[in-house]
Amino acid sequence: MPHPVDVVLDFLRAEEARGVTHVSLDDEARAVLRAVYQQSKGPRPAKPPSQPTAAVPAVDRLAAFAVEADEPPPPVVADADPAPVSMPVPTGATKAEQIASLAAQAEHWPPAFALGSLRKTMVFSTGNPEARLMLVGEAPGMHEERQREPFVGAAGEQLDKILKAMGLGRPEVYISNIVKFRPAMPNQTSNNRKPTIEEMAACLPFIRAEVEVVRPTCIVALGGTAAEGLLGLTGSVASMRGKWHDYAGIPTRVTYHPAYLLHGNASHAEKRKLWEDMLEVMAQLGMPISDKQQGFFLPKG
Ligand code: URA
Repeated sequence: MPHPVDVVLDFLRAEEARGVTHVSLDDEARAVLRAVYQQSKGPRPAKPPSQPTAAVPAVDRLAAFAVEADEPPPPVVADADPAPVSMPVPTGATKAEQIASLAAQAEHWPPAFALGSLRKTMVFSTGNPEARLMLVGEAPGMHEERQREPFVGAAGEQLDKILKAMGLGRPEVYISNIVKFRPAMPNQTSNNRKPTIEEMAACLPFIRAEVEVVRPTCIVALGGTAAEGLLGLTGSVASMRGKWHDYAGIPTRVTYHPAYLLHGNASHAEKRKLWEDMLEVMAQLGMPISDKQQGFFLPKG
């Protein structure tokens, strides 16, 4: 089991390696970092004596990120060495080959397995790596794990309906998840849980690498977890949707997770809001929009 501070640092280094220089921290993230810092003062696995190095000590680097959020930096723990950055490297001539190579690396991804809190079956992505539209969900559930394909359960049926209303099908889009393994629970049957921040951090290098391979025209983050993983946003989906965000230079829209449409969770007005997000996505993609499509979920009368 890795020390929690190393999990956070792996994530930050991966982001840094990708050119990210700022990470915004809300109150919850600050609380998590504070807890991680407290744990970093506890016993760490014994290490051979390290050679002098110019690299900034690990906890110091964590403090440097925390400073962005106007937090007083925690004192440096002198014995923390930087751990090697774990980044998947796509190989292959075509986008399909590169995605396949990433999926092969995800099968045995040490940062995910080291957590011990994710199940072992890897579920990568589905659809077309040449697509102009990329949709990102949270994590596989029971059905996705069985079929080793994202969004094949009830939420997937809702997603297919949304795509159909847009005039699209799975072969024309690329669909993936932030977390590549089903989050494990005690005595788990068909029940699923939201991934933890550590589980997201362990898998985030893949979604970043997938975006770099696919380079879609726009991205849709389906639900709050996808928005948190991609954009670092927390709060209600209502507060994130209705505008364009930026992920790796690609216009990114946040909308409700298709599962939210199930069991009468979403009001007619919320369905319309989801649809308005999709109309914006269609416009961004330069797709024709019919009068019928414009009017979906508008109040009758
Ligand atoms: N929900 C998700 O976010 N992803 C899936 O693959 C299935 C359900």
